[in-house]
Amino acid sequence: MYKYLIKPLLFAMQPEKAHYFATGCLTFFSAIPGVSALIRGLYDYKHPKLERKLFGLTFKNPVGLAAGFDKDARWYNELAHLGFGFIEIGTLTPKAQVGNPKPRLFRITEDEGLINRMGFNNLGAEDAIKRLKKRKTDIIIGGNIGKNTATSNDDALADYIANFNILHDYVDYFVLNVSCPNVKGLTKLQDTPFLLKLIGEVKAINQTKEKPKPVLLKIAPDLNDSQLDEIIEIIAQTKIDGVIATNTSTSREDLKTDEQTITKIGNGGLSGKPVGNRSTEVIKYLAGKSNKAFPIIGVGGIHTPEDAIEKLEAGADLVQIFTGFIYEGPSLIKNINKAIIKNHG
Ligand SMILES: Cc1cc2nc3c(=O)[nH]c(=O)nc-3n(C[C@H](O)[C@H](O)[C@H](O)COP(=O)(O)O)c2cc1C
Repeated sequence: MYKYLIKPLLFAMQPEKAHYFATGCLTFFSAIPGVSALIRGLYDYKHPKLERKLFGLTFKNPVGLAAGFDKDARWYNELAHLGFGFIEIGTLTPKAQVGNPKPRLFRITEDEGLINRMGFNNLGAEDAIKRLKKRKTDIIIGGNIGKNTATSNDDALADYIANFNILHDYVDYFVLNVSCPNVKGLTKLQDTPFLLKLIGEVKAINQTKEKPKPVLLKIAPDLNDSQLDEIIEIIAQTKIDGVIATNTSTSREDLKTDEQTITKIGNGGLSGKPVGNRSTEVIKYLAGKSNKAFPIIGVGGIHTPEDAIEKLEAGADLVQIFTGFIYEGPSLIKNINKAIIKNHG
């Protein structure tokens, strides 16, 4: 139904409008008595062998929704009916911000990809907790945090800490996002000295909380091998709970979409099919070089069950989807889970 009916309708709209339309419809229909149960019946696939225990949390299944889809924690209760094992909200910043000027989200359908330069548009962490307090789902909710665009890199630490404190009681794990290419200078925060300081401070604050939460780091697919070696070293030193690999890419290599269209779109992070191989390479490198020393959430270009299995075989413990969810629809979640049972049962 998605591919032949819903997708053509959504793809006829501007991508950002389609996003709000689709999530609006999901919320509207979910409010009708019986519809949520119907949606769960269609999409939610349960199997005891899908359960994963990682960093002290139990995931019903290893397929999650990646950050950026539900930045403001508006729709996570309804999205949970689609069968996700976990949903990552954010990236949230301490203060609300509008993000970059529109248009800032583009489809490159020939490549089954997206290019976005949203720029952390969000209503702020305080606002998100109003909705996180109304949590109806029992799936794991992650909180992805970043810095406001107006905050300089020198003051970035304070933004991450503010978010961490605001959201601490309301999410199950945290992700330090230092890899978004759409906030000027943010990826510079992947440098070792800043990361050591950031992780050190966040972990120290975490230890003062009644219930410390797992903290993960989200990295870019554009890091080279020596930068990935540094990440492995940082994880060994700081004992951070894991890595999310990867965010979107600034690369435009090997695209089928014509160069003129790509140039016209301009800056932004590339996601979907074109980043799949690079993201798998990063996972494989991190897992291999570290001797699988830490948990990895694999994300980037998962559009089929086979893509997800490839990520798991490369060393990922869990996977997340975003662009593949838009191109393939919600049945992708169930199909991945079924394939996992078949392959790794
Ligand atoms: C429109 C859009 C917005 C995104 N926003 C965020 C974000 O706010 N924070 C973040 O960590 N990642 C963000 N991402 C990156 C995704 O979480 C994911 O890492 C990336 O898109 C690769 O996965 P995919 O190929 O399945 O889309 C965004 C991606 C897209 C397409």
